[in-house]
Amino acid sequence: MSSSIFRENFKKMTTIRRLALYPLFCVTILSTTLLFFPRNPYNPINDHNVPYVEPQIDFKDCDLSKGHWVPDPQGSLYTNSTCLTIPHSKNCLNNGRPNSDFLLWRWKPENCDLPRFNPKSFLDLVRGKKMNFVGDSLARNHMESLLCLLSMEETPKDIYKDAEDRNRIWYFPEHDFTLSTSWTKFLVAGSERTYANKTGTGIFYLDIDKIDEQWAKDLPNTDIAVVSAGHWLFRPIYINRGDETLGCIFCYLRNTTQISLKEGLKLVFSAAFKHINACRNCKDNLVTVLRTFSPSHFENGTWNTGGACGREHPFRVNEINLHSNDMEIRTSQIQELEEIKRDSLNKKKFAVLDVTKVMLMRPDGHPNSDWGNKWMSGFNDCTHWCLPGPIDTWSEFLMVLLKQLRLP
Ligand SMILES: *[C@@H]1O[C@H](CO)[C@@H](O)[C@H](O)[C@H]1NC(C)=O
Ligand SMILES: *[C@@H]1O[C@H](CO)[C@@H](O)[C@H](O)[C@H]1NC(C)=O
Ligand SMILES: *[C@@H]1O[C@H](CO)[C@@H](O)[C@H](O)[C@H]1NC(C)=O
Ligand SMILES: *[C@@H]1O[C@H](CO)[C@@H](O)[C@H](O)[C@H]1NC(C)=O
Repeated sequence: MSSSIFRENFKKMTTIRRLALYPLFCVTILSTTLLFFPRNPYNPINDHNVPYVEPQIDFKDCDLSKGHWVPDPQGSLYTNSTCLTIPHSKNCLNNGRPNSDFLLWRWKPENCDLPRFNPKSFLDLVRGKKMNFVGDSLARNHMESLLCLLSMEETPKDIYKDAEDRNRIWYFPEHDFTLSTSWTKFLVAGSERTYANKTGTGIFYLDIDKIDEQWAKDLPNTDIAVVSAGHWLFRPIYINRGDETLGCIFCYLRNTTQISLKEGLKLVFSAAFKHINACRNCKDNLVTVLRTFSPSHFENGTWNTGGACGREHPFRVNEINLHSNDMEIRTSQIQELEEIKRDSLNKKKFAVLDVTKVMLMRPDGHPNSDWGNKWMSGFNDCTHWCLPGPIDTWSEFLMVLLKQLRLP
């Protein structure tokens, strides 16, 4: 199937949706522009016949992560029928999510406008490059979202999948662009202690002297590494440096040094960034993007005690807790990245994709009960994000970032 067929379907669908919402849209745009942005030079282009013009925006004074969600009748760039690679567990509308209102919101940074994702422009930017998402299932979630967004321009080829479907490679031949994931729970080497009968105890051991093998192996072949981690650290984990035990997160043992989650994350991210910075057989211009912690939204319980995320609207800025664990994790991740940037004497680049606060405001963006897992009914997914959904914004941020970095 060619990419032009995908585009045609997409246009038809958005036109229908637009016609229905047009009166409301006009009023909203008019009142917003008139009341709040009297001199806004970046009015959205609503006419299909007007060619897309790259907005020339200086993002220097704009912190993308500061802003709020505003209504957006245009909705997402792709749907469950134009993107054929949406994983079943993220295909919320297909799994019975009753309404698609959660798609009709758009991130509005305080001091600038975030350009809409443009697949053609993104693919041109990364022509000839290899982008690898390093991390757990949320890194995978982001990659799957980007894959759908880019599929609107070119149909990707599925060129590699390992036995457990953990590490994947997709290729866009017309743009010679490779998109992949390297699975890792902790970034550094980690293993689970097992009982004599080989079942896991749920207690893990990390060695911050050793980088997790798969992504370390893939790194020399990478131009842009989007690195993330965090969710797997919410459990009892001993942290070792070689033979020395530094302490334990969530162990609460009298005879063992207690390490806070924040400290544990700093040790892990510091080890990962140092490894990247020191990597001799890596590309000179390797770009590392830290994607900050992605918050969960379980309410009235945790994932295994009936917690759910049934809200239907985004939060406003004053409804989120800026001193939450999520924000603290984000801040320690950024601190480690800033430290490496200061120490780095080579051409490698490091940048932050700061999504934590943006996503704290989207309790409505998770699959909740609509993740289609019949073996685990009663459990809700308030950690991953629906596709399409607010996670698609991460790639809009990524596009701005890559432009700012001026890739060679
Ligand atoms: C696609 O989404 C619509 C709602 O927008 C839903 O009714 C339909 O079942 C979904 N179809 C597939 C194949 O996922
Ligand atoms: C394995 O051993 C542990 C501890 O003795 C026990 O709790 C668990 O049920 C056992 N699992 C199996 C599959 O036998
Ligand atoms: C600490 O105490 C636990 C539980 O009593 C025991 O299993 C563990 O071996 C002790 N660790 C050290 C380092 O002494
Ligand atoms: C949590 O419980 C309260 C009280 O029962 C209920 O009103 C609310 O909808 C629940 N929240 C979620 C996200 O399910």
